[in-house]
Amino acid sequence: MSMRTPTWRLLPLALLVAACGREAAPPAADAQAPAPATPSPAAAPVGPAAAPELLKQAQALFQPIPDKAPDPAGNPVTPEKVALGKMLYFDGRLSSSGVISCNSCHNLGMGGIDGVPTSIGHGFQKGPRNAPTVYNAVFNVAQFWDGRAADLKAQAKGPVQAGVEMNNKPEVVEATLKSMPGYVTAFQSAFPGEPSPVSFDNMAKAIEAFETTLITPGAPFDAFLKGDAHALTADQQAGLKLFMDKGCSSCHNGINLGGQAYFPFGVVHKPADAVRPAGDHGRFAVTKSQGDDYVFRAAPLRNVAATAPYFHSGNVWKLQEAVTIMGDAQLGATLAPDEAEKIHLFLHALTAPIPKIDYPELPERDDATPKPSGS
Ligand code: HEC
Ligand code: HEC
Repeated sequence: MSMRTPTWRLLPLALLVAACGREAAPPAADAQAPAPATPSPAAAPVGPAAAPELLKQAQALFQPIPDKAPDPAGNPVTPEKVALGKMLYFDGRLSSSGVISCNSCHNLGMGGIDGVPTSIGHGFQKGPRNAPTVYNAVFNVAQFWDGRAADLKAQAKGPVQAGVEMNNKPEVVEATLKSMPGYVTAFQSAFPGEPSPVSFDNMAKAIEAFETTLITPGAPFDAFLKGDAHALTADQQAGLKLFMDKGCSSCHNGINLGGQAYFPFGVVHKPADAVRPAGDHGRFAVTKSQGDDYVFRAAPLRNVAATAPYFHSGNVWKLQEAVTIMGDAQLGATLAPDEAEKIHLFLHALTAPIPKIDYPELPERDDATPKPSGS
């Protein structure tokens, strides 16, 4: 493009600092920009100035992750609720075995996933689907690959009761939590004034409140969307352009580049059986409508480089291969290897530092605490 305006580089130290003030962008091997005039690590340009049209096109389709998620409907977020939700998230005693916590399958140190094709839960049973990340899940329009839970609160009640996950019963969970004075106090401060604060419903509300803090606003792509024209490498800019021009962004858009709407997996070509197993009909199981056969939520792509393996089947380990499969299945486009590579490099620009999370101290059991099943 002839529009490389050097004024972009002079313009706005303040803007750059505002845009990527959290972390220096990761060093890029192919960065072509000269050293910044002012030595400020936060403002170091990563790539050449993007064409203003590229930035505009991107800003019309995607939004940066805000620094704070909005409060979920009917569940105002308070520090006390978040603290309680964090305890519950890490506590294996919500499961009947006593050892499986939310963090077992959504490991917060590992991209918010478990890193296996399909999750392993109670009694080492294998579930039917890959675990999506909990990071930024608050920005999805509904939860699960098929969108069957309306929000994070509804979602949180699912795994605790699912036989292949935590295999517990709401009344046992309540009895467990009520038996430990540490939890009773924490529920009282999280739900002040409620006659019986320790409940299964409030457990879900507290976990939902904690999950609103599991957001990752510091990706190079966020800095780009906020106006830092140098935040992406030249290859990532080319990948972004391909992502929009080829049509990936018709399904993967918004804050999470996905997570907003449902589409057949295999719009143009049916993916291989291993990638789209015949037995999982996706949203059809939720709506019973023929039109929803093999329909899934467009996967959110934030931090996608850290969340292999891919697809609801979890059978694809390489991000570049996932990109090629998408081109073929959803767009009928055979992506040349260098196009797939550039899109894949762009997807790496969606990786952000994760929030710092102190491991919570969990309340001690009491004599009245139900024992794990089988002991
Ligand atoms: C045994 C593994 C396992 C455990 C334990 C587990 N999950 Fe999950 N989680 C999954 C799988 C698998 C899915 C996808 C299921 C589907 O789409 O049908 C999922 C989906 C989710 C989603 C939806 C994300 C999205 O993008 O749609 C959220 C949020 C979530 N889990 C949070 C939790 C919380 C909170 C807990 C603890 C109360 C928990 N999970 C416990 C495996 C697990
Ligand atoms: C017609 C809508 C549509 C288009 C176009 C589309 N996708 Fe997807 N994408 C989806 C759906 C639906 C899924 C979830 C598939 C599943 O059920 O496993 C998905 C999943 C993915 C995944 C897997 C993410 C994960 O966490 O497992 C990646 C990566 C991806 N898409 C990238 C792309 C790229 C790159 C393009 C353009 C070449 C593209 N998509 C085009 C709808 C679309």
